[in-house]
Amino acid sequence: MTFQDQIKQGIPSELPSIKKYNPSLNHAPKRKEILSIAEKELAIKNALRYFEKKHHSILAREFAEELNEYGRIYMHRFRPDYKMYARPINEYPGKCMQAKAIMHMIQNNLDYAVAQHPHELITYGGNGAVFQNWAQYLLVMRYLSEMTEDQTLAIYSGHPMGLFPSHKNAPRVVVTNGMMIPNYSQQNDWEKYNALGVTQYGQMTAGSYMYIGPQGIVHGTTITVLNAGRKIAKNGEDLAGKLFLTSGLGGMSGAQPKAGNIAGCITVCAEVNSKITEIRLSQGWIDEKITDLDKLVERVNKAKENKEIISIAYLGNIVEVWEKFDKENVYIDLGSDQTSLHNPWAGGYYPVGISFEDANEMMANKPEVFKEKVQESLRRQASAINKHTAKGTYFFDYGNAFLLESSRAGADIMADNGIDFKYPSYVQDIMGPMCFDYGFGPFRWVCTSANPSDLEKTDAIACEVLQEIMKNSPVEIQQQMVDNIQWIKGAQDNNLVVGSQARILYADAEGRMKIAEAFNNAVKSNEISAPIVLGRDHHDVSGTDSPYRETSNIYDGSKFTADMAIQNVIGDSFRGATWVSIHNGGGVGWGEVINGGFGMVLDGSKEAEKRLKSMLFWDVNNGIARRNWARNEGATFAIKRAMEVEPKLKVTLPNLVDDTLLKDLFN
Ligand SMILES: NC(=O)c1ccc[n+]([C@@H]2O[C@H](COP(=O)([O-])OP(=O)(O)OC[C@H]3O[C@@H](n4cnc5c(N)ncnc54)[C@H](O)[C@@H]3O)[C@@H](O)[C@H]2O)c1
Repeated sequence: MTFQDQIKQGIPSELPSIKKYNPSLNHAPKRKEILSIAEKELAIKNALRYFEKKHHSILAREFAEELNEYGRIYMHRFRPDYKMYARPINEYPGKCMQAKAIMHMIQNNLDYAVAQHPHELITYGGNGAVFQNWAQYLLVMRYLSEMTEDQTLAIYSGHPMGLFPSHKNAPRVVVTNGMMIPNYSQQNDWEKYNALGVTQYGQMTAGSYMYIGPQGIVHGTTITVLNAGRKIAKNGEDLAGKLFLTSGLGGMSGAQPKAGNIAGCITVCAEVNSKITEIRLSQGWIDEKITDLDKLVERVNKAKENKEIISIAYLGNIVEVWEKFDKENVYIDLGSDQTSLHNPWAGGYYPVGISFEDANEMMANKPEVFKEKVQESLRRQASAINKHTAKGTYFFDYGNAFLLESSRAGADIMADNGIDFKYPSYVQDIMGPMCFDYGFGPFRWVCTSANPSDLEKTDAIACEVLQEIMKNSPVEIQQQMVDNIQWIKGAQDNNLVVGSQARILYADAEGRMKIAEAFNNAVKSNEISAPIVLGRDHHDVSGTDSPYRETSNIYDGSKFTADMAIQNVIGDSFRGATWVSIHNGGGVGWGEVINGGFGMVLDGSKEAEKRLKSMLFWDVNNGIARRNWARNEGATFAIKRAMEVEPKLKVTLPNLVDDTLLKDLFN
């Protein structure tokens, strides 16, 4: 059967043959036992809804085995045999270009070169799912191949509820992931309701089909490391010979060594998983691997002496490195952590002193003991970090809930006031005031032709647009413009593409709109051979309400509200997005954040031009307006500029209060 026929078929009516477990691939850890027997029966009943009755007796047994063995029902038998990757758009069957573009993006998120646990449909972050099971994938692809321009597909946490009549300007797909009644939004609720097959954790970009491999994060990480370097520079010097210590070589964390190289420092990144370490080595995302702590110290000292730009993976636990470097007096200039602490009890964080295999076994079979070990390890890690910061290290939380989970573990991580943490998050110190408040965020695009020469052309167009804009940019955003132009100029040389022909480029509202318009014109004139998909990370100016990350530099008390993210997704959907998504839990954990995103197809049409202008303007300025209302200076500056350009924009500005007025009010 051809690829197209397989897509159109959806769930096959005859059972495909059983798929063998492939040990050479990276697999999701076994999830903990959480369902009662009655709930397990319900999970099987739920899973069988996708299949004809004649198959139920075989599949019921098989799914029960999966549930017992993996803690989830992935429906492995239904994994398609064709290769999973983003094909050129015209290879997808269908009646609607927008739907074909979405298929391109979905397949990219499940590509073996891109996805962290491809057989479990997990793209990154340990539990960032595209779909819960293979039946959902097959059904969604079939619906997309049938969809016309006056239908919208409603997707509930991976499950396609169905195609509903709508209209040409409506989104083609509306995705919700993990939307829970607030009281049912704890970590264990995810375990339970995901095991039942009724919800999923969509992370930021996995469940919205917008993940573009580690490149998506390299740019943001480069900006973070560069600006962290500017913060610690005493005389404006660069990062040459300075040491950055961190952990994780996974989906996003894997970008750190590459970013360290681009920023020009020595990076040491600890990773406990040998398979992942080998993948990053073979991809050239790290330069060297070391498994012995003494050799690591020796190598780092040599790199410091020679001011080498180098990235070293330490295959082992990060806690060991913090402690060893303290003992051996290796000075760390910049320190962070990118273990997946948004998912601390199910494989996001591996405790020190236990082998990788034993830890996997323990988290499934003795979850309470495992939790204790994680917390003990976090206390040790925090204590070692405190010793380094006392010597001068600049430590920042990388939005992975490290400080939050360490505080919950009772680590010495709270500031004197007992409310704040000792250390800032990278958004409080760097990304928030320098980027998000001005509207700069991780804009991205994908060439659906899958042709590298199209990507090259888009890079050149984007660079030209930014250079033109920079001529009249105010001084407040000049540094951003310089960094972004430098990034796009070096993007081809840095060989960043893994999976689809995609590019990320931090840009503000003006940049995003002008670049998008230029792309649409290039598609129209056939300079670019197929439509372009626009999108962004949820981790952006307006998309995400997350008190310990994206909105951690909001200080008016509203960081625990989620109006901005909800406003954003609703506003995007009626201003022309091709698909929209809203998630619970991306990045920092279930219940800790609401985050949303969009995709938009530029097909060269007049309608696409109208949509991009209307939607991108709102998509960025919504967040700037809110940041401005929270009294963030940069945002007030940026929203005033936006109002000058667009007379129909009228934003409420805050009146600033003289703090001395408040002093004696309640004494
Ligand atoms: N890169 C960014 O810009 C960014 C931004 C915000 C948040 N984050 C957060 O960073 C975290 C990491 O994301 P990811 O996609 O890379 O997740 P991931 O699960 O793919 O990778 C984390 C890696 O850490 C390793 N690890 C866990 N415990 C360890 C330990 N004690 N020592 C050494 N290695 C250990 C794991 O084996 C895994 O490979 C997430 O919580 C994510 O939300 C990243």
